[in-house]
Amino acid sequence: MKVTGSVRVPGDKSISHRALMFAALGDGPSRITRILDSADVRSTAGVLRALGADMPELSADFVVTGHGLRGLRAPVRDLDCGNSGTTARLMAGVCAAQPFASRFVGDESLSKRPMGRVARPLSAMGASFELSTGERLPMVVHGTELEKVEWHNEKSSAQVKSAILLAGVCAGVEVVVREPTRSRDHTERMLAARGAEVWVNDDAVLLWPVQGLPALDVAVPGDPSSAAFFVALAALATEGTLTLPDVCLNPTRTGFFFALARMGVRIDVDDERTEGGETVGTLAVSPGELRSTEIAPAEVPSLIDELPMLACLATRAEGETVVRGAEELRVKESDRIAAVVGNLRALGADADELPDGFVVRGNRASLKGRVTTHGDHRLAMAFGVLGALPGNEIEVDDPACVDVSFPTFWRDLDGAVR
Ligand code: S3P
Repeated sequence: MKVTGSVRVPGDKSISHRALMFAALGDGPSRITRILDSADVRSTAGVLRALGADMPELSADFVVTGHGLRGLRAPVRDLDCGNSGTTARLMAGVCAAQPFASRFVGDESLSKRPMGRVARPLSAMGASFELSTGERLPMVVHGTELEKVEWHNEKSSAQVKSAILLAGVCAGVEVVVREPTRSRDHTERMLAARGAEVWVNDDAVLLWPVQGLPALDVAVPGDPSSAAFFVALAALATEGTLTLPDVCLNPTRTGFFFALARMGVRIDVDDERTEGGETVGTLAVSPGELRSTEIAPAEVPSLIDELPMLACLATRAEGETVVRGAEELRVKESDRIAAVVGNLRALGADADELPDGFVVRGNRASLKGRVTTHGDHRLAMAFGVLGALPGNEIEVDDPACVDVSFPTFWRDLDGAVR
């Protein structure tokens, strides 16, 4: 299989959610370009709209006029977060600081995901929560005047950290969040870009009270988690080079590229620059003889969403690939440990679950069968890449579920393969 040409991956999902929130909470008009127009980001736009924000339809270049940190209003309907954990958890932080109650709902998958992790720190700040059985959605957040907090997060989670930071921003109080390994830091960067005083070291973030957020234009860089599927495709090819322009190369997001380099894949970075507080560059990826690797727990936050793709890639690598310290995968859009290993085995690959990760033994056998995605976009795309390889015959049960993060994925995949 030959890969060729250039794939412009859509805007980064994490930055897109945050761009809408910061614009709605800012003072005046913010122009947003290259936002990810996908179901998840539309959920954030819809939630902000239900809270009275001036939120137009998403497009490649549009303006959101913010009405400041006190500009939101009590919602007249439920806040529907769809499939998006980032929407539910970050907006819980925003709503915890509002003088009204908000009811959060989501789809079947999101309604199985834990919300206690945000309810606990936000309750420590003074908000109160009504959670459904098992600390799930539907969830009612009773906002109030919050107090400052110093919170130690036992697991690294950018969603929890960001919920606390956003609550601190909206309440104008100081917050400190500690975590074992630094999770993605887009919220901190976007706050700093807006003049907030944020101090960061390896295991803690401190935000001083802010009085307001100036409006700021945002050009959303390409999503490294979406780029990962095409980097993997190029790695698995036998000839050619694939170019991926303008990908966000924030060091808290690039673990997958480092892991692939260890596995023998050549990834060149060109045109590296800083845009809006984020490192951005063009990736050029060529095939390599793949060898296995081990992912240590400390590496996991930097490639958490790429682990389904890594597991699929490992079926083609010489030796045993082992991932540990990734128990968080069990509470993503699906139980990604059980789902990835179950599907790989059903297709004929050699893989085993670990409580906190998986083992995959590469053997290059042809893989054949039907993949059950459980509606999980990253499973659909990871197996989609594997299915593009000659000799494999893989059917994905729900190809449309890619819409939450990468609506043009199947078309781009077709275009990249010769
Ligand atoms: C995200 C954080 C990560 C990631 C998710 C997006 C974010 O979740 O898996 O896809 O935008 O903050 P956790 O913070 O729960 O690890």
